[in-house]
Amino acid sequence: MANIPASQGGRTSLHGQWSSRVAFILAVTGSAVGLGNIWKFPYVAGANGGSAFVLVYLGCILLVGLPVMMSEILIGRRGRRNPVETMTLVGEEEGTSRRWGWVGGLGVIAGVLILSYYSVIAGWSLDFIIESLTGSFQGKSGEEVGAVIEGLKGSWQRSMLWHSVFMGLSVFVVARGVEKGLESAVRFMVPGLLVLLFVLLGYAMTTGAFVEGLTFLFTPDFSALTGDSVLKALGQAFFSLSIGMGAIMAYGAYLPQETSIPSASVTVVLADTFIALLSASIIFPIVFANGLNPGAGPDLVFRTLPLAFGNMPGGIVFSTLFFVLLSFAALTSAIGLMEPAVAWSVERFGLTRRAAAIMIGLVIWIVGIGTALSDNVIADVQILGQSWFGAVDYLTTNIMLPLGGVLITVFAGWFMSANSTSSELGGAGAGFRAWRFLARFVAPVGVLFVLADGTGLLDFVTGG
Ligand code: PHE
Repeated sequence: MANIPASQGGRTSLHGQWSSRVAFILAVTGSAVGLGNIWKFPYVAGANGGSAFVLVYLGCILLVGLPVMMSEILIGRRGRRNPVETMTLVGEEEGTSRRWGWVGGLGVIAGVLILSYYSVIAGWSLDFIIESLTGSFQGKSGEEVGAVIEGLKGSWQRSMLWHSVFMGLSVFVVARGVEKGLESAVRFMVPGLLVLLFVLLGYAMTTGAFVEGLTFLFTPDFSALTGDSVLKALGQAFFSLSIGMGAIMAYGAYLPQETSIPSASVTVVLADTFIALLSASIIFPIVFANGLNPGAGPDLVFRTLPLAFGNMPGGIVFSTLFFVLLSFAALTSAIGLMEPAVAWSVERFGLTRRAAAIMIGLVIWIVGIGTALSDNVIADVQILGQSWFGAVDYLTTNIMLPLGGVLITVFAGWFMSANSTSSELGGAGAGFRAWRFLARFVAPVGVLFVLADGTGLLDFVTGG
């Protein structure tokens, strides 16, 4: 059976299927919408000059993110296995090489590394549920609110506690299987998050710095742009869309044959981008109204939003709800980060889903200790001029994901036949031709150039 493409009914997933098109879109949206939109996008944009970064980011989403996402889903559905096995099988079927499986392997490792620090930040969000409930932010100044996150980061005990709790939750959900729980979680999470973000947007408008915040974000100033910041915009696009590491490929493996991949991809990309922009539009007015620093770094969100909650009517309720929802958003992303590794362990070693989830979760928890201690016990340790957290983040977001993305889209664009890809993408019309052009030329060349330029490799090669 192995050589008959899934489209001819030759293969079905070993882990079941999404019950509907909506279920798939919800799951992928759940994976895409997470800390990347609300925590990471604003701080990386703020640290890289704002508006120019945002425009480059949008370009990356459209020209690279969308075609890579479509490639990942179509390969996943074709292979219907974990990313390692899928790339191996489809590589063989398309008459190229089984070695493409290594691309899946790279993704499994990237997922483990990303979740190792993602879990620590998600832990901050869990901690802030308690802080909200106990009114820690009520009527506080910027400095007082900043002390809360400083206290948390500075304590290895608290960092470890919440990292452990979050990993425990992730293992629990992943062990239960693909569909159970995930669908219903996303169904209330995304709308709930949107409602609260609009409440916050209302607050941001009253700060008196709303226009200043939006100007910072949307008035193009390309003088601030460097090779490094373009690479960060690209990495952020991959991170936020959950692409380049096989998470979406793993989800694609459970996708019914009749669902349209292009329209599902567009829906997810729009939702993800909208939430990132909304979140930044809330945070920067608060930054400027309170004289905070837009380049404050990874704890920017944890300094600004609590300040807003602490100064609005009903703050305790909104704040608690918000951090509950943010934690849920992180959880549905964590599921995506674990899925390639878990599905691989199940299919490769015949483990039960539960055993695989526990084993992989344990590995991630151990690697994550580095990040949990990164701001306290090992704060002095520098890896290539960065903290442990900074180094793991840079390696995964800015190098592994873009590289994985190039390999995936080169595979789909150059090594799969137009017949196979067009049958997955619903025909060989103009949309298909646009995808194929982006997947074959624009995305790979663009990403490799940005990678080489942003990491300094280009200067090195040209002797500049
Ligand atoms: N996209 C998720 C977020 O924005 C993070 C993620 C990356 C999830 C890669 C899965 C895979 O938070």
